[in-house]
Amino acid sequence: MKTLLLDGEALTGIAMVYLHLILAFSLVAFGYSQDVELQQTTTNYAYKETTESMRGVMENHKYESSLQRALAWLVTQREGNWGWRNDTPKVLTALTLAPQEVAAALLPTTLEMQLSFKQMEVEVVVLLWRHHEVPVTPPKLSQYCLALNALCYDPRQFHGHDLIGTLQHHETVQDLEFAYAILAACSARAHIRKRPIRRLLDIANTAKDHNIDTVAMTILALRCIVKDHRHRNLQHTLRRPSINLARQQQPDGGFGNLYNTALTLQALQDMNEINNHWNRTAARNYIESRQDPDGAFTDPNLTAEVVLALSDRGLGAIRNLDCGKFDSDDENHVDIDGLAKSFSTHGNDSEIRNVTITYTLWVGSNVTENSTISLTAPRNTSFYNVMQMAMDLDARFSFEASEWPNGHYVHTLAGYKEEPMGYHYWLLYRLPELPDPTAPPANQLVAPVGVDDLLIEEGDHYLFWYKKL
Ligand SMILES: *[C@@H]1O[C@H](CO)[C@@H](O)[C@H](O)[C@H]1NC(C)=O
Ligand SMILES: *[C@@H]1O[C@H](CO)[C@@H](O)[C@H](O)[C@H]1NC(C)=O
Ligand SMILES: *[C@@H]1O[C@H](CO)[C@@H](O)[C@H](O)[C@H]1NC(C)=O
Ligand SMILES: *[C@@H]1O[C@H](CO)[C@@H](O)[C@H](O)[C@H]1NC(C)=O
Ligand SMILES: *[C@@H]1O[C@H](CO)[C@@H](O)[C@H](O)[C@H]1NC(C)=O
Ligand SMILES: *[C@@H]1O[C@H](CO)[C@@H](O)[C@H](O)[C@H]1NC(C)=O
Ligand SMILES: *[C@@H]1O[C@H](CO)[C@@H](O)[C@H](O)[C@H]1NC(C)=O
Repeated sequence: MKTLLLDGEALTGIAMVYLHLILAFSLVAFGYSQDVELQQTTTNYAYKETTESMRGVMENHKYESSLQRALAWLVTQREGNWGWRNDTPKVLTALTLAPQEVAAALLPTTLEMQLSFKQMEVEVVVLLWRHHEVPVTPPKLSQYCLALNALCYDPRQFHGHDLIGTLQHHETVQDLEFAYAILAACSARAHIRKRPIRRLLDIANTAKDHNIDTVAMTILALRCIVKDHRHRNLQHTLRRPSINLARQQQPDGGFGNLYNTALTLQALQDMNEINNHWNRTAARNYIESRQDPDGAFTDPNLTAEVVLALSDRGLGAIRNLDCGKFDSDDENHVDIDGLAKSFSTHGNDSEIRNVTITYTLWVGSNVTENSTISLTAPRNTSFYNVMQMAMDLDARFSFEASEWPNGHYVHTLAGYKEEPMGYHYWLLYRLPELPDPTAPPANQLVAPVGVDDLLIEEGDHYLFWYKKL
């Protein structure tokens, strides 16, 4: 199997991101642990209630859908580190694309999803960092890229590393892996060159010589590619291979096994023009009849694949997800940056306006030192710049930060340095009112982003609190 290569410079960067992530992750995990524990108990409790009432419903009315039971089972398989062993990206993709309206009560909370996402980021960094011992395989990387995209993160800018570039760097020998990698690159809106497209078309046109999963994945990749206006002229080439795939349906409704059937359902999703060549309902029935009593389809890997097949959105939907960044299909006709810029210069929201905020330092879990300063600065100034202003005005606010690929990490303030060994950390809060040591803020008010990405708004109150976690 071919493996992917990384250069030394990328590696150093990755190692640094890794350390930072571990630190950030432990911060998040420790910082939130109380609430999470609390939330988790509530979630589990609610979940237990749901499943019990569901069991009643299932026995009495059979209301409950196969999809809902599969999702509920996936959530129960989550590990203590918020991941799903080898299947974290696949399960996260399935949970994200599942129709929220049928699953709202079953799905993890936003906070839980964030923790799972952090776990996935750690997995990717470990994967890249250890690539000499455990080779990074293209399917593994494709899975992570698709998951990042499904969650609206750009895999071409993973902490400064271009995962799609790494993926495209080596051509994959195996056709299924090749089609999967192209689907991942295309879903990230990377440009796909002529040669790989030709190879996909060759596979599609010689479907008899290939396995069903390879053909289904190839159709998924090609359907993604024709969404790019530069390749719209290829739309017509999809019809015949799709019909040929549809005709492979067997009398039992399936396409040989659960995996092939789930992948084919995704490949032929929304292709209503070929409906008379196969029976979609029979394929769904085939899948649903193979569900285990506990809701699983054998294992998390296969269950996630089935969830994608039974949802309205499968892997083929990832490219066009509305992440607020693109306007559907025509992204290449307009200069997105230019458009956004012209909106903001013509809108009055862009009027430079000064805002006033307060910035407080607390030292000690039982606050033993406190200082507050009030500052005025243009709206949307980063909190990092505000900290620099405060330091210039008042020596009590002096600080030191280290620079990481994803921004500054403040480790020392007012002479107190973080002591990870003793679990002493500086936690940053963004609050609606001036903090009061007799009623300290709850953990969910910890700022969601780093000091560089935190932009000040009128009436914000910031608190950096040095405390033992
Ligand atoms: C998931 O299933 C697919 C298809 O059987 C397989 O190729 C892949 O290796 C599995 N992934 C994991 C992590 O086991
Ligand atoms: C499709 O399959 C379903 C379930 O097996 C069956 O009820 C239905 O009649 C089939 N439809 C057609 C058009 O054959
Ligand atoms: C936008 O701002 C300009 C100048 O600052 C002003 O002339 C215009 O009336 C404002 N438009 C709106 C809709 O407030
Ligand atoms: C400040 O940020 C908000 C949200 O990002 C944005 O809508 C607004 O246009 C920005 N204002 C300025 C003056 O940059
Ligand atoms: C904080 O205050 C409480 C009660 O006033 C006290 O029991 C505790 O020992 C104090 N903790 C520290 C670290 O001083
Ligand atoms: C904050 O510090 C000042 C001295 O700088 C002190 O007078 C005040 O009581 C402190 N406030 C609290 C709530 O600890
Ligand atoms: C905004 O604040 C800066 C100082 O931070 C000051 O120089 C500038 O004049 C202020 N602008 C307005 C419009 O108040």
